[in-house]
Amino acid sequence: MDPRARIDLALEKALERTHALGSPPLLAKAMHHAVFPGGGRFRPRLTVGVAMACREDAPALTDAAACAIEMMHCASLVHDDLPCFDDADLRRGQPSVHKVYGEPLAVLSGDGLIVLSFQVLCDVASVTVPQRLAPLVRIVSDAVGVPNGITAGQAWESEPEIEINGYQAAKTGSLFAAATMAGAAAAGVEDVSAWWTPGARIGEAYQVADDLRDVAEDAETLGKPVGQDAANNRPNAVAQFGVEGAVRRLQSLVEEAAASVPDCAGAEHLRALIRQESKKFIPRRLAAFAAE
Ligand code: IPE
Ligand code: IPE
Ligand code: MG
Ligand code: MG
Repeated sequence: MDPRARIDLALEKALERTHALGSPPLLAKAMHHAVFPGGGRFRPRLTVGVAMACREDAPALTDAAACAIEMMHCASLVHDDLPCFDDADLRRGQPSVHKVYGEPLAVLSGDGLIVLSFQVLCDVASVTVPQRLAPLVRIVSDAVGVPNGITAGQAWESEPEIEINGYQAAKTGSLFAAATMAGAAAAGVEDVSAWWTPGARIGEAYQVADDLRDVAEDAETLGKPVGQDAANNRPNAVAQFGVEGAVRRLQSLVEEAAASVPDCAGAEHLRALIRQESKKFIPRRLAAFAAE
């Protein structure tokens, strides 16, 4: 099965819990709306790619880890789109969760997805390899909490001064670092610290790409509003470094990511995959700025 189909299947299965007897039906719908249709599914594909490169021996646990990472991401998007954050009406080409279900259910569906990530890890680890549960919970929670996870990253927007690299590393890099580390941990790698750098660098590159798209794409292509960073007065890599500088920064981050992939059975393949996939990061109309 291709990784995307594998991930979507695991996500649908995880969401079955929302239909259990006694669970509020509108919350189930709001949580499903937050997860489907998916966007790039880039983070969970990274988790599966790393697990395979490390010769995964517990595929159900890889799926649970990928699923936990993607549900954290979806939750962060639901909260990020709320009027108190970016106030965005469109996400993945459809109205954002609060536009369809209202703000209370948007807040709760994000909360529900965050908790569901841990529920899925517990459910699957307990019937596969229980000793891998604690490392996975540590990896996922560090990526979304304080001091350097998504919560901290988003909180920088409420501080009087923001340093752009630290802000982007926390709000986006942290979950990508968790995606690579969780892939390795699910496959039984005991010391996953070497998997932090490739993930964190891909994540930072990805946020620079998101900043480029915010400036250079249109809402129809992206399925979400553009020009948001300027409108919300958020730090943006293009505003900071210019288009050419941002593209150069993106490329050097991708190179650092590929070069830092630790030795493992599938290292060469994974390095090639990172370089290949990241070519799609740069918006087409800015391709001329990319160095050959
Ligand atoms: C959007 O992430 C938010 C960022 C951190 C850049 P994605 O671009 O991965 O969103 P989807 O999952 O593909 O919609
Ligand atoms: C979102 O960053 C990062 C999150 C942790 C949700 P942005 O605000 O730049 O992402 P988009 O442009 O809304 O997807
Ligand atoms: Mg935001
Ligand atoms: Mg936003």
